[in-house]
Amino acid sequence: MFCQKLSYFYPANVQTKKIPVLISASEIQQRVRELAEEINQRHNDSLLVVGVLKGSFLFMADLVRLLSCPITVDFVQASSYGNSTESSGEVTMVKDLTVAARDKHILLVEDIVDTGNTLQALYWHLESYQPKSLQICTLLFKKHKYRLSIPIDYYGFTIEDQFVIGYGMDYAEQFRHLDYIGIYET
Ligand code: IMP
Ligand code: MG
Repeated sequence: MFCQKLSYFYPANVQTKKIPVLISASEIQQRVRELAEEINQRHNDSLLVVGVLKGSFLFMADLVRLLSCPITVDFVQASSYGNSTESSGEVTMVKDLTVAARDKHILLVEDIVDTGNTLQALYWHLESYQPKSLQICTLLFKKHKYRLSIPIDYYGFTIEDQFVIGYGMDYAEQFRHLDYIGIYET
């Protein structure tokens, strides 16, 4: 098997950067199990689980494997213009659903709800397909920043207004592969 040190791919300043741990891998896994249990208790019908790319990919993968109802899986991707650590209100769809959503129970899976701009745009977009229900599940929730009326049905952890990386989340497309959530300090 061809194997190469991962650090090879990172610029030197990133390689040596120390990342403070905010939520450990075992804390994440424990909370994902609890969220799945909550969802399993509230859902017997089939679910269309929609992950928001790219940030939700690890959370989504761990969560769906613990769900007990019949599920189908799809992904959407949105892009929002803004600087590298803050989104703006302008959100465009980059990738849409590829399965029919009408009359389905949808569970939208997000990595993090920060301002909620992305979530709001995706929510309105998915609503236009006339699903039977539309619920939100996010791993992280910057609750104190959230000013929208869209209900967050399930969330893993509330966090302060800080920029986090790992377990799917990135800074400049790096750190998504970490199995824990760290704080990105500039
Ligand atoms: P929002 O539109 O401000 O809620 O944020 C939209 C997206 O920005 C999230 O789905 C994440 O992909 C990304 N994002 C927001 N906050 C963070 C963070 O602290 N770390 C990494 N990505 C973030
Ligand atoms: Mg996201």
